[in-house]
Amino acid sequence: MTGRLIAFEGGEAVGKSTQAKLLAERLGAKLTFEPGATDSGARIRSLVLDSPELALSPHAEALLMAADRAQHVAEVIRPALDAGIHVVTDRFIGSSLAYQGFGRHLGVDEVLALSLFATGGLQSDLNVLLVVSEEVARSRRSSPGDRIEAEDAEFHQRVLDGFRTLAEQNPEQWVVVDGGRPVHEVAEAVYAAVRDRLGV
Ligand code: TMP
Repeated sequence: MTGRLIAFEGGEAVGKSTQAKLLAERLGAKLTFEPGATDSGARIRSLVLDSPELALSPHAEALLMAADRAQHVAEVIRPALDAGIHVVTDRFIGSSLAYQGFGRHLGVDEVLALSLFATGGLQSDLNVLLVVSEEVARSRRSSPGDRIEAEDAEFHQRVLDGFRTLAEQNPEQWVVVDGGRPVHEVAEAVYAAVRDRLGV
């Protein structure tokens, strides 16, 4: 049986990495992340995020995220799923839809088509959207931010609203979890949701 693919999604500093790690440990799943989980992906991550002053058009940014995803699927995700191993990824297609589709105004359908080209049609079985209040996010944020974190408040609001819209419009693919509680409570809520939805 092929493994299941679970993606953690959300804005900056919502606790995705911590929760992805805890869920992966609990499921005995492969833990991974985007962008940057492969050698070529690490170079792409550095290109896209490290230099706030670097000029990159929205289309170029979307294509680089898709290139990272293509390599990630080919090298990490697909082999694990084919071996029957569940995969938990800290960000996946949902991040491109929210950041490039909504944040950069490229359009959700266009960005989804690009991502599906990159993944050969592979989509996550479930997206866990972690949400926290603006106060919690601000208190957890480390500064200075990367090229995308450095975007203005309107950009980040479009991203957060975009995630909410995606979750509302596709309830079978998304589950929304309040990430503002203590870590172990969030982990329990995430696990319960994943078990209910996927039976893993
Ligand atoms: P993080 O993984 O360290 O949270 O940061 C990755 C940054 O890249 C974050 O600002 C979200 C952004 N990003 C996109 O804009 N599009 C994508 O498709 C992905 C995977 C990440």
